[in-house]
Amino acid sequence: MIFFVFFFYACSAPSARISGQVLVNGKPYQDAIVRIQTTDMIALSDQIGSFYFEGLPTNQPQRISAWAPGYYIAGGLLIQPGTEDLVIELHPLPLVDNPDYEWLSAYQQEDKIGSGEDTYCENCHSSANGQLPFDEWIEDAHSKSASNIRFLTMYTGEDVEGNPGQPTQFGTTRDYGNYPLAPDPDQPYYGPGYKLDYPNSAGNCGACHLAAAAVNDPYGVDPTSVSGVGLEGITCDFCHKIWNVKLNPETGLPFPNNPGVLSLEFLRPPPGHQIFIGPYDDVAPGEDTYSPLQSESQLCAACHFGVFSDTVIYNSFGEWINSEYADPNSVLYQTCQDCHMPPNGTDHFALLNEGGLIRDPETIPSHKILGITDIDFMRDSVSLTADVIRDDNLLVVNVNIHNSHTGHHIPTDSPLRHLILIVRAFDDQGVPLDLLEGPLLPDWAGLGDPETGHYAGLPGEAYAKVLEEIWSQEFPSGSYWNQTRILSDNRIPALETAQSSYTFQSPSNKTIRVDVQLLYRRAFIELQHLKGWEGSDLLLSEKILVIK
Ligand code: HEC
Ligand code: HEC
Ligand code: HEC
Ligand code: HEC
Ligand code: HEC
Repeated sequence: MIFFVFFFYACSAPSARISGQVLVNGKPYQDAIVRIQTTDMIALSDQIGSFYFEGLPTNQPQRISAWAPGYYIAGGLLIQPGTEDLVIELHPLPLVDNPDYEWLSAYQQEDKIGSGEDTYCENCHSSANGQLPFDEWIEDAHSKSASNIRFLTMYTGEDVEGNPGQPTQFGTTRDYGNYPLAPDPDQPYYGPGYKLDYPNSAGNCGACHLAAAAVNDPYGVDPTSVSGVGLEGITCDFCHKIWNVKLNPETGLPFPNNPGVLSLEFLRPPPGHQIFIGPYDDVAPGEDTYSPLQSESQLCAACHFGVFSDTVIYNSFGEWINSEYADPNSVLYQTCQDCHMPPNGTDHFALLNEGGLIRDPETIPSHKILGITDIDFMRDSVSLTADVIRDDNLLVVNVNIHNSHTGHHIPTDSPLRHLILIVRAFDDQGVPLDLLEGPLLPDWAGLGDPETGHYAGLPGEAYAKVLEEIWSQEFPSGSYWNQTRILSDNRIPALETAQSSYTFQSPSNKTIRVDVQLLYRRAFIELQHLKGWEGSDLLLSEKILVIK
């Protein structure tokens, strides 16, 4: 059986055919996907390996590629219309991963100047317009995951100035053995750090944050002693060598004690070969292959799900799986890539003089991997509505935060993140009205001056997954390498709405102004101060209502 698609060409125009055969080791190969590159015109090779395309323009050569599972993409040469004996030979992928493969750097390398795919990605996947994968990746958190100062200071226990933290001291009881003591209040304290609690082990942080360096040594990588490509964090070559993700068939989630690289399988080439695994079956400059996994959320699962001693810490993947966005039968079905890697309008992703082809921009995902650094993306994540009812000397403000466009809870993953909703009402002199009924912001929204971001005690609600350290009962804790439990979790799941209501005492005859603000805060303010992290809150939404 042969499938074909016609070019819709002016009916009267003469049309041409191209036909040929797909071979493996000189023998016909059935069911290879043969494609006119960059188009959706495909043919499947039949029992004798044959394929043909009809209705092609007579004066235009075509590039034709072929691919089948387990093989490199082949073809790619310009073929004249009318050719009937095109032969495309498929070459098998290696059967096993090569753990001795050394990652290629993304960046220009002096000793690798030359041509060919095996040099460095910047060579061909970067351009002055800033829209190619390299240009976006260097702006994205994955390229900085090994050098991110917030991560490093939580690892070492230092602050951003490099002031050393207090090594944890231990007390002993007969029943429980050793237990950590609270930091000494007479010594300077720069917040928690993995190394303060576990000076003799490297920890599992590297398995996700320094994935390239940790690939063969998941629990052995100390982020402060990494060099070379390892410093590129989650680098191009790493993601484009992912071949499989090990998931628990019962839950669809990674196995809990297998963070990051422990849940990933790679296909790294033997010496003398290369393999770039990507989302296309029609890319043919060298040794590339196609994998549908590249366009599936499961590709992201291994690092975006993380359990630390029975407590689920990171879980954007699990939250997505449990949302309507993960239901392939729903109109809302969207993968991580659909929302976080939307096309940016470029019509090519490799330099044209290095073999890049012009493609439909809609078929080219970007590498922005949108997140906190994109204010428009963040503002679009939720919709805020507020209404006010005035009844004599009472003023009731109802606020709804609808998680309208986030494919998981908001906030997600890092338990340092939170939303702060502030609801204030003022009289015509600007004096705040007293809250009679309704929630107040907790201490961890910041004790101090609201002008400097300390909002504790103001009317409002904070949304977070609050961890409590089991032994010290400290919360909110960012030391999830120690045993913690979830004290509370009021984050807003996908497509759900958080409601809150505030009753103020109001003078009945005066104009009242109600100000509702929704902020996104990257980390608890006290921790930001201890570490010296720069932090500014993102204003996601603000509503000002004037009641006469
Ligand atoms: C976090 C993993 C990750 C990293 C890091 C990454 N990519 Fe990708 N890349 C992907 C995914 C996923 C896709 C496919 C997205 C889809 O199909 O929706 C992709 C697609 C591509 C494509 C196909 C066309 C396009 O532009 O989307 C190219 C080429 C590519 N990546 C090159 C690179 C290069 C070069 C780098 C580094 C500068 C890089 N990638 C870094 C995950 C990654
Ligand atoms: C299962 C994979 C995984 C492991 C293991 C892991 N992390 Fe993370 N970490 C992530 C992901 C994913 C994010 C990004 C989350 C987000 O943006 O919400 C992150 C974010 C962070 C952040 C916030 C960074 C910022 O700029 O705001 C810190 C700090 C951090 N991790 C520290 C650690 C430390 C310390 C360890 C080891 C004790 C560790 N992580 C282990 C996956 C992991
Ligand atoms: C000599 C130029 C060159 C270099 C260097 C190069 N690439 Fe590419 N790459 C290309 C071209 C050309 C294409 C195909 C363009 C097209 O068909 O539109 C491509 C395609 C890809 C694809 C898509 C594969 C598929 O089947 O979907 C990925 C992924 C990719 N490259 C990753 C990388 C990574 C990662 C690096 C660095 C380690 C790299 N490339 C270095 C030229 C290069
Ligand atoms: C090898 C582990 C790993 C894989 C695979 C991975 N991530 Fe991440 N991701 C991380 C870590 C670690 C961070 C936090 C980096 C930091 O803040 O320093 C992160 C950060 C992010 C962020 C925060 C914002 C930003 O600017 O990047 C988003 C969004 C994200 N990842 C989405 C994805 C998506 C979508 C995929 C799959 C296409 C993916 N990640 C695959 C480990 C991974
Ligand atoms: C329907 C669109 C959508 C889907 C699907 C989606 N996300 Fe998100 N994601 C968002 C929005 C909007 C935000 C910003 C709000 C927030 O932080 O929760 C976000 C935020 C994030 C963040 C935190 C950003 C940061 O800079 O810290 C991470 C990490 C993340 N997503 C990972 C994923 C992963 C992994 C998947 C797939 C399992 C996924 N997302 C699926 C829309 C989506």
